[in-house]
Amino acid sequence: MIMSNKLKALLPLVAIFILASCGASGDNPGLEYAPQMYHSIPYEPLTQITDKDRGEWLSNREDGLGEFYNSNPNNQYEQNVRQPVEGTVRRTSNNVLPYRIQKDDVMMANELINPLENTPEILAEGKRLYSLYCQHCHGEKGDGQGTVGVVYAGVPPYNRGAVKDLTEGHIYHVITHGIRRMGAHGSQVSDENRWKIVKYVQQLQNQ
Ligand code: HEC
Repeated sequence: MIMSNKLKALLPLVAIFILASCGASGDNPGLEYAPQMYHSIPYEPLTQITDKDRGEWLSNREDGLGEFYNSNPNNQYEQNVRQPVEGTVRRTSNNVLPYRIQKDDVMMANELINPLENTPEILAEGKRLYSLYCQHCHGEKGDGQGTVGVVYAGVPPYNRGAVKDLTEGHIYHVITHGIRRMGAHGSQVSDENRWKIVKYVQQLQNQ
């Protein structure tokens, strides 16, 4: 392609412009290509852009501020989320709290009550989770005859002897921390899912 001399003279200027737009430092992301891809339109409680002019050039906000400004000046540090009250404990929508009882305090676990209800959905979930995490040792029927259980001797049936009468709290504790030859599952299975599995194990105890 043959370029006129005038166009050629402009090329360095274009190059300088392009390179200058690449500058980014600190809170300044530089020139963003398709900025809506990075800045969410819905309210984002965990992001915080305190620069009132950010995104001014494409803003059509009624308050006249930049499109991407999203801080709450009434909160500490202009955060969008408030700090939780001191001592706040995370709990799931089903009211399940994090488990604090230590491995050796197994007797204490006997007092615990399963926070979940006996709905068909929860029981079905418990069965599904049991098939993922326990069945290979404890067997589909809880008789200890899982594919691993038959070679890893000593897996007790749920419906016999002392195991039949184990409380829901004890079963939860055993899943969390393990017991004797059985390993802990607390790191693989969430608090809530462990309580779901307990529901299913209780069904197997009575079979
Ligand atoms: C690697 C095999 C294995 C897996 C996986 C496993 N268990 Fe066990 N479980 C055992 C063995 C072995 C014992 C007997 C422990 C002992 O008394 O030495 C046992 C014992 C138990 C007991 C009786 C505890 C007691 O106090 O006597 C319960 C209840 C139990 N397991 C539930 C579960 C549940 C629920 C899961 C799934 C989350 C699970 N286990 C996963 C091998 C396993």
